[in-house]
Amino acid sequence: MRSVPRRERKKLLSPKDIALSVAPMMEWTDRFCRSFHRTMSRRARLYTEMVTTGAVIHGPRERLLGFDDAEHPVAVQLGGSDPAELVKAARICADFGYDEINLNVGCPSDRVQNGRFGACLMLEPALVGECVAAMKGAVSLPITVKCRIGVDEQDTEEALNRLTECVVAAGCDALTVHARKAWLKGLSPKENRDIPPLDYTRVYRLKQNNPNLPIAVNGGIRTMAEVHEHLKHVDGVMLGRIAYQEPEILLAVDRELYGEDPPVADAFEAIQAYEPYIAARLEEGQRLHNMTRHMLGLFTGRPGARAYRRHLATEATKPDAGLETLREAVAQVSRLAREPIETAA
Ligand SMILES: Cc1cc2nc3c(=O)[nH]c(=O)nc-3n(C[C@H](O)[C@H](O)[C@H](O)COP(=O)(O)O)c2cc1C
Repeated sequence: MRSVPRRERKKLLSPKDIALSVAPMMEWTDRFCRSFHRTMSRRARLYTEMVTTGAVIHGPRERLLGFDDAEHPVAVQLGGSDPAELVKAARICADFGYDEINLNVGCPSDRVQNGRFGACLMLEPALVGECVAAMKGAVSLPITVKCRIGVDEQDTEEALNRLTECVVAAGCDALTVHARKAWLKGLSPKENRDIPPLDYTRVYRLKQNNPNLPIAVNGGIRTMAEVHEHLKHVDGVMLGRIAYQEPEILLAVDRELYGEDPPVADAFEAIQAYEPYIAARLEEGQRLHNMTRHMLGLFTGRPGARAYRRHLATEATKPDAGLETLREAVAQVSRLAREPIETAA
C-alpha cells in the first residue's frame, strides 16, 4: 500500500468541520432532504445516500450526484472496493463540487456483500487503506471513512485498530464509527442498526489513541444533551434516524455547537424558507411528495401534527399538488404549543 509521507499531509478537515453531521441514509438523504435539512442549520455536515462506484461511472450522473449549492458542506458517500474504480468515481464527484468523499465500510446488506464493499470491508483493512490512498492521490478533497467497530466474530479492539492504522497510513482525513458491530449473516440491515449492542467507549478509546485523527461517533444518539456528552470524548457526532424522524433537532446545532444564530427560529419558518426551493423543483416537474415525504417528522409533539402528516400523506402525492397543499397541511398545526410559557416577574 502506498502511504502518504507525513510532511506532505495538510489537514483538510478540522474537528469543528465534523462536529455534527447527518448520516448517509439510502432512500432518505437525497438532495431534497438535504436541502430541507439545510434550512435548519448552516453548519451541520450533510451526507448523500451511498452511491456505488458502478453507478457513478456508468449511471445517470446528474440524477445521482446533482445537488444544490445551498447544500454545502456536503459529502458524497461511495460504495466500492476497487481502487481504480474509486479513483474514477472520486474524480467525477470532485468535478460535481462535493466537499468530501466518504467510503462506506459499514453497510451490511447482502447486495453490498456480494459486491464486496460496505461492512464486509472491515475484514480487509489493507484493501480499505489502498482505496483511501488511491483516492487521496487522485483528488484534493478530504477522503473519509465510515465504519463499524467490527463484524461477526471479530475482536472489536483489534479490528478497529487495524482498520484505523491502515486508513491513517493512507492519509484518511476523518473516521466516523457506528459504535456497534454488524452481523453479516443472520441480521437484516435494519436489525443491524438496532440489535448489536452499542459500545461508545470503544470509539472514545480509539480517539484517545489517535489524537490527530478527527473521529466522529454514530449510532443511537437522539438528543442534543447526548451530543454534548459525546463531544467530551470525540470530535464529532453523526445523527441518523433522529435527524430524519425529528428534524427540528437541527435547529439547535448552530447555536449550541457554533455559537451562531440558527437560520430560522422554528419549524414553521423552516418550511417558509424551504418554499422557494420547492417551487423551483415543482417548476422543473418534480412532484410535491418528493420533497414533503422528508418533512413528515416536523411538528412531532405539537397539537395538529397528526393532521399535518395525514394531509401530506393523502394530498401531497397527487400529481397536481402544489405549495398550497403544503400550506393547508401546516395550517392544521397549532402555533401555540411550543411557545415559551410566560412566568410572573
Ligand atoms: C434508511 C436508512 C438508510 C441507511 N443508509 C446508509 C447508507 O447509505 N450508508 C451508510 O453508511 N449508512 C446508512 N445507514 C446507517 C446510518 O448512516 C447510521 O449509521 C445508522 O442509522 C445509525 O445511526 P442512528 O442510530 O443515528 O440512526 C442507513 C440508515 C437508515 C435508517
